[in-house]
Amino acid sequence: MNFQLTDNQLKIQQLARDFAQKELLPGVIERDEKGEFDKEHFKKLGKLGFFGLTASGKYGGKGLDTLSFTLAIEELSKIDPAVSVVLSVCNSLVNWSIENFAREEVKQKYLPLLCSGEYIGSFLLSEPEASSDAAAQQTLAEDKGDHYLLNGTKKWITNAANASVYIVIAQGNPEHGAKGIDAFVVEKDSPGISLGPNEDKMGMRSSDTHDVYFKNVKVPKENLLGKTGGGFSIAMQALESGRIGIAAQATGIASGAYELALKYSRERKTFGMAICNHQAIAFKLADMAVKIENGRNLYQKAAWLKDAGKPFGRAGSMAKLYCADMAMEVTTEAVQIHGGNGYIKEYRVERLMRDAKVTQIYEGTSEIQKIVISRDIIKNG
Ligand code: CAA
Repeated sequence: MNFQLTDNQLKIQQLARDFAQKELLPGVIERDEKGEFDKEHFKKLGKLGFFGLTASGKYGGKGLDTLSFTLAIEELSKIDPAVSVVLSVCNSLVNWSIENFAREEVKQKYLPLLCSGEYIGSFLLSEPEASSDAAAQQTLAEDKGDHYLLNGTKKWITNAANASVYIVIAQGNPEHGAKGIDAFVVEKDSPGISLGPNEDKMGMRSSDTHDVYFKNVKVPKENLLGKTGGGFSIAMQALESGRIGIAAQATGIASGAYELALKYSRERKTFGMAICNHQAIAFKLADMAVKIENGRNLYQKAAWLKDAGKPFGRAGSMAKLYCADMAMEVTTEAVQIHGGNGYIKEYRVERLMRDAKVTQIYEGTSEIQKIVISRDIIKNG
């Protein structure tokens, strides 16, 4: 097996690392405190190509492989995962769904704007009564002949306010259950769309999260993704990819907290020596390093499978499950190593611990990943 990254992969990794250090680190504590989405960061990330990492050059993307994308997400997440989640949703869920399922004219209309970061995208699947049970969609998409009419409520929507383009999953034919569900490209400024207040979240505070309400929202016929009734399958496929990105994000969060803990433990002295030399702390560092390495191997294997054109759903869910739980464990230990200082915002580990929690929840809870993995094991061995 070849674990050597290519020159291009190393380049994008370095670009993301530098951006995180120079641009994201200053002000990261204040952005978290105020729940402030810094549009300037996203303009710069757009110019550097981070919004279109995996989209094809034909539509303004960089045409990179999944592994390159995940390396970038890991690096940005070490410093500010509330920024990386925006990119993860745009690349994995929004651009991917449009490039693979939209009509050609819809791809040409939206993808160049999405890849340049001029437009941000958002993925509207979850509802008050359809979160883990994603097929229980109650938002209705009525076929009115020359357009669709959307009515309903979406919940916990990342990027809802800052996006210009939504992918909306809705029920087109309730009698057919999951096979009645459709997916659409919808402009956020369409008449009839309104937003609830920004949620006051535990972590990822500088990325915006809102309810989105649809009241008689007209959607052009050509904005249907794929075929009538194909929306649930599209959403599930998008999430298969998305989960690799969230696994990389969780690994980045863990890695960022570990690096801070390692540095602190070398500087902080108790009982006449740096605390890293106490076995109680040294063993924690060893355990954290092993867990992060395991997580990185899992998400990179899933990315490699995807790039090789092989089935990757089980591997992506395994990576997401492990990395999310691992990020909670490692960030908690990083706070512990910092002692009293770990509980103080200035030291940055408490925020990473808060940010880590949602990786066990979004793009499918840890329990949902176990459903996906166990079903695959039972079906395919
Ligand atoms: N690929 C393609 N098609 C698929 C698929 C996949 N991975 N999984 C399911 N389907 C299709 C199939 O056609 C299937 O029909 P068949 O019977 O012909 O196989 C049909 O969908 C129904 O599939 P299931 O019976 O497996 O569906 P289910 O109702 O049992 O649900 C589930 C499966 C895995 C639990 C699913 O509901 C799920 O993933 N839930 C979690 C949802 C989630 O992750 N939400 C995250 C929101 S987005 C987000 O978080 C973004 C953000 O803000 C950061």
